[in-house]
Amino acid sequence: MEELIPRHVAVIMDGNGRWAKKRLLPRSAGHRAGMNRMISLSDHAFSRGVEFMTLYALSAENLSRPREELDALFSLFREYFLKNAAILEQKGVRMKIIGDLGLIPADVSDLVRAGEEQTRAGTKGTLTLAIGYGGRQEIVRAVNEAVRRGEEVDAGSFSALLSTAELPDPDLIIRTGKEKRISNFLLWQCAYSEFYFSEKMFPAFTNADFDRAVADFAARDRRYGKI
Ligand code: FPP
Repeated sequence: MEELIPRHVAVIMDGNGRWAKKRLLPRSAGHRAGMNRMISLSDHAFSRGVEFMTLYALSAENLSRPREELDALFSLFREYFLKNAAILEQKGVRMKIIGDLGLIPADVSDLVRAGEEQTRAGTKGTLTLAIGYGGRQEIVRAVNEAVRRGEEVDAGSFSALLSTAELPDPDLIIRTGKEKRISNFLLWQCAYSEFYFSEKMFPAFTNADFDRAVADFAARDRRYGKI
């Protein structure tokens, strides 16, 4: 029997810093290794039939990290968007950003917007990067929007006010790096997601590890509160 493939996989890419520390490398080297892993992993996920891949690249709370680390991350973002927008366009993958881009340097947010624009026509998968993202912040923004419109909402119309409006809810959420928490990621959207926690640090989380997570997902019985 063919394995059930999750339509939407979200990944909390944790452990870059610890991966680097163990190798006596600067944290920035861990983020670079994480970026390379992230590129290969999303290609692999789409090749397995995943339609939506959502990656937690930077939380709103991460923005209070030391300046030096943030500068290294923003340099990586510049490099990533400059190089990868054209590659994703060629592969037919649409790139989408969720989060508050007002929190990151203007030249980086310009690159991010340009990347979204350049890949707009992609139909072979949607790669969503969460940058300056916080689930509570997203919910509060949507509530204020509903209040502003003077409209009562239900679960469906509320979902449509979120930055993920065009995405189905994640079927599978993977967190690497040993911790077992959600860290303000997709709080509304994860209502019926399946969770998979890996002890591996993100740069060491291989495509084969991803396949193990998918196989684990495929064996689960999703009841959505029913019997
Ligand atoms: C968490 O590990 C990871 C991050 C805060 C950054 C994630 C970024 C990438 C994987 C690469 C760059 C992304 C793009 C879009 C180019 P951590 O630093 O919290 O690790 P630790 O818990 O071991 O300290």
